[in-house]
Amino acid sequence: MTNRSHWEDVYQHKTADQVSWYAPHLQTSLAYIQAASSSPTSSILDIGGGESTLVDDLLDSGYASIAVNDISEKALAVCRERLGSRASRVHWLEGDVLEMDLPVNQFDVWHDRAVFHFLTEPSQRARYVEQVMHALKEGGWAIVGSFGANGPTQCSGLPVQRYTAESLHSQFGDAFELMEHKSEHHLTPWGSSQEFVYCLCRKRAG
Ligand SMILES: C[S@@+](CC[C@H](N)C(=O)[O-])C[C@H]1O[C@@H](n2cnc3c(N)ncnc32)[C@H](O)[C@@H]1O
Repeated sequence: MTNRSHWEDVYQHKTADQVSWYAPHLQTSLAYIQAASSSPTSSILDIGGGESTLVDDLLDSGYASIAVNDISEKALAVCRERLGSRASRVHWLEGDVLEMDLPVNQFDVWHDRAVFHFLTEPSQRARYVEQVMHALKEGGWAIVGSFGANGPTQCSGLPVQRYTAESLHSQFGDAFELMEHKSEHHLTPWGSSQEFVYCLCRKRAG
């Protein structure tokens, strides 16, 4: 099964609140995005957004330039349907973040909750960081949330790489300054606790 067919299969068979990563609102993500870039004209890219309500909350917060990526067509279709007429205010980018042709120096904020941790090969992580470097403006913000050092070893049946804030930041290297980080415990819909770590990093100039 390819990565794409794995995720299409997940979203064909489960509703938004039947997946382990479900939360009614991505509060930490939203708070970090607002702290990083509060201007309504900030350009925000959510990588692997799935069916999360982050896009709804960003629209409610007044952001006018939002792009949502996912490898799953079905996940994006569910979001579009939920948003109704508001869906046309969002750019929908279906595809693999490692392969997508992203615009250069376009985004003020790159957000990723629970996607980077699936990249278990160093070459995949290097490609991902290349994509962030390419698409993010100088002085832009990368917000990445992954399983913490004591988090699960799998997500959606796939192996994951777990991180401390320091090891997560080190994947991005000196081109990014670690501005803030936090750990939190996510409760799955069936009550299991999962440790996440979030890093808020700023792309240095030059
Ligand atoms: C664990 S879910 C997290 C979804 C959402 N970010 C959230 O926190 O609710 C991972 C998401 O990443 C997407 N995904 C996985 N690999 C991807 C890739 N290489 N490129 C883009 N999206 C990907 C999946 O389809 C899925 O929606």
